[in-house]
Amino acid sequence: MSEPSTPAQPQPSANQLATKAQAWSSLFSEPMSELVKRYTASVFFDKRLWRADIAGSLAHAQMLATQGIISQDDHAAIEKGLAQIAQEIEAGRFNWQLDLEDVHLNIEARLTALVGDAGKRLHTGRSRNDQVATDIRLWLREEIDRINALLQALQLSLVEVAERNVEVILPGFTHLQVAQPVSFAHHLLAYVEMFARDAERLCDVRRRVNRLPLGSAALAGTTYPLDRALVAQILGMEGVCENSLDAVSDRDFAIEFAAAASLIMVHISRLSEELIVWMSQNFAFIRIADRFTTGSSIMPQKKNPDVPELARGKTGRVVGHLMGLITLMKGQPLAYNKDNQEDKEPLFDTVDTLKDTLRIFAEMVGGQPNPTTGQKEGGITVNAAAMRAAAQKGYATATDLADYLVKKGLPFRDAHETVAHAVKLATERGVDLSELPLSELQAFNPHITDDVFEVLSLEGSLNARNTLGGTAPAQVRQQLARHRQRLA
Ligand code: ARG
Repeated sequence: MSEPSTPAQPQPSANQLATKAQAWSSLFSEPMSELVKRYTASVFFDKRLWRADIAGSLAHAQMLATQGIISQDDHAAIEKGLAQIAQEIEAGRFNWQLDLEDVHLNIEARLTALVGDAGKRLHTGRSRNDQVATDIRLWLREEIDRINALLQALQLSLVEVAERNVEVILPGFTHLQVAQPVSFAHHLLAYVEMFARDAERLCDVRRRVNRLPLGSAALAGTTYPLDRALVAQILGMEGVCENSLDAVSDRDFAIEFAAAASLIMVHISRLSEELIVWMSQNFAFIRIADRFTTGSSIMPQKKNPDVPELARGKTGRVVGHLMGLITLMKGQPLAYNKDNQEDKEPLFDTVDTLKDTLRIFAEMVGGQPNPTTGQKEGGITVNAAAMRAAAQKGYATATDLADYLVKKGLPFRDAHETVAHAVKLATERGVDLSELPLSELQAFNPHITDDVFEVLSLEGSLNARNTLGGTAPAQVRQQLARHRQRLA
């Protein structure tokens, strides 16, 4: 234990401190009831913020010492005590106490037990209001970085599968009705675009998360000559929150994060829905590795897509947390209110759900590296023949015939009508447009020649869509190259 910097005072025991913190001060005439204690305590969930809490305290203490608000000795004692506390928590030896309400009071009480008055001086110019707002921001900043890494891994998995499937054709749908043939790679890259925007959004949210509330104290600022910019710099934050009332009270950064997280889950959920459809026997476009499926207790033939189904379900949970957080904020007067303690569980669960989901999807789509070969294995298996057969049903190249007629001089609306008649005839015959003899096609329009059959082929249809963002393999390869470079 370091020497306290002020002359001898009786040192309170940890037990006395606990009692003191619980009763706040001599102002209170009765102790808190057990039920209220449990109702108001947050330590059993907010202890998760301990690293951020210690990092914030270390930065605050360093600044207090630099500014001459506490002595260098006190600063040294605080650093030493917090280092020991970090070790205790890490090793699972820290005695978290419900009586001490939250992570902040638990750590502070332990610090005081370890280093005496220096521990009690740490809270100079600080309140739990600016402390907790700082902790959540520090914690969330780290988590955003982890989520971004996982989003990157998922995008890479999708790109890898896409690279192997540029020439694989499946029906593209609108209204889940066969619309036009598309490259399977193009389809997967649509999700890469979504996840790329999600990552962009998170980076943008991170800028606003990464600002410092500390120094706002309870709500109005403090009488001590704090150097807030120094604390921000020590903590790697991009700036300080410039209004103390706002700094301690708003949780808009958490709400924004939850909104960005909800969108990620919505994108995952859309992908899940497609995986589920593609896996069903009636499509049989893909298979996913058995370890992501489950059997049925009654139907021996079943392999159920539980993972994508659960991800679709968990999307509701994350969107629910967004609703919870945004409703939490509504109607709170300035500045801090205890309502804000309710920000943590939804935020924590959002982060946990999102990280697990992204991790599992990156592996389910792209597979896992084989320890000996290093090659990824066990990702989704593509049934190109089934995709192709499906694309050949439903007159997916009808638009191509209309475009062909436009090139021969017909106005598009007339071409559209002509092709509708041709589709009607082909449907009656139970054949594809490309299976109608040339003479019958010419009966619809005399300008049709035998170059039409190339136009009516799946490959012809894809190759013709060779504009930026289109499904032509040449375009898709360019997009793949761009994503590879971006994700490298
Ligand atoms: N546990 C509290 C929270 O999570 C810390 C701040 C408490 N401040 C207060 N004045 N009661 O928000």
